[in-house]
Amino acid sequence: MESSIITQVQKEDTQLPSKTGQVKKSSPKKPRSRNIFKALFCCLRAQDVPQTPPPSQDTLLPPEENGTVTKYDLQTLRYQFFQIPGTSLLPEVTPQDQGKICVVIDLDETLVHSSFKPISNADFIVPVEIEGTTHQVYVLKRPHVDEFLRRMGELFECVLFTASLAKYADPVTDLLDQCGVFRARLFRESCVFHQGCYVKDLSRLGRQLNKTLILDNSPASYIFHPENAVPVASWFDDVEDTELLNLLPVFEELSEAEDVYAKLKQLRAP
Ligand SMILES: *[C@@H]1O[C@H](CO)[C@@H](O)[C@H](O)[C@H]1NC(C)=O
Ligand SMILES: *[C@@H]1O[C@H](CO)[C@@H](O)[C@H](O)[C@H]1NC(C)=O
Repeated sequence: MESSIITQVQKEDTQLPSKTGQVKKSSPKKPRSRNIFKALFCCLRAQDVPQTPPPSQDTLLPPEENGTVTKYDLQTLRYQFFQIPGTSLLPEVTPQDQGKICVVIDLDETLVHSSFKPISNADFIVPVEIEGTTHQVYVLKRPHVDEFLRRMGELFECVLFTASLAKYADPVTDLLDQCGVFRARLFRESCVFHQGCYVKDLSRLGRQLNKTLILDNSPASYIFHPENAVPVASWFDDVEDTELLNLLPVFEELSEAEDVYAKLKQLRAP
């Protein structure tokens, strides 16, 4: 898990062999990340996520070479993100997406599940070079992902946002998104490393937050913006899974929302 190119939650019995997950030695060490990640994953369902902590009181903890972290005031950084023109993660909205809600969609365990372990029924096999050696990554598509993406592309401005590395996630997305549903792709370097997790900070996208949604199996990814989240169960290999299909009516409703907070609140209400 540490230094893995693929950022994913793991089932206990399907750990990636760590040797194949290594990236360059100079990559940031994050010794506590796994436990924190796991703790978040196990304990926080989106519904239970506490009300958005005011991010300004938070700290940003970027990793250093030797495993120590430096504290920065997040507000300072946010201030800079907003003050310096051209620092948004996303390009301008294209004419065809004007007025649409932006949906940030996660890759691993949301749309696909990947493994270094050879499987006979892989939908894609993607070669990824790690330290001069080419490894094959075996990718399974979540059931109904094609239909899901097609419809999502009609309803929303869709953006892929993954904490995995581009050298893995980019070729996988090329194969997955044949129709070009994703207007933009964001990878690990666009995440904020916060308390051992890669967080997708929606305020950096350059879109109105009340017109932004995030679909992610990991609540840690949207810990800064739980009220923008559409949670989805982690997927590994269940061929009977219908989660994506079941989410489509929810997204149909959300696509009409003037304000995603009000609509999500309404949808969450019992
Ligand atoms: C290693 O950590 C110490 C703090 O414990 C810090 O002062 C030092 O700059 C760090 N070195 C590197 C190379 O990051
Ligand atoms: C959404 O947020 C923008 C500012 O980012 C604000 O101007 C607008 O009134 C908000 N819309 C709704 C429906 O709350």
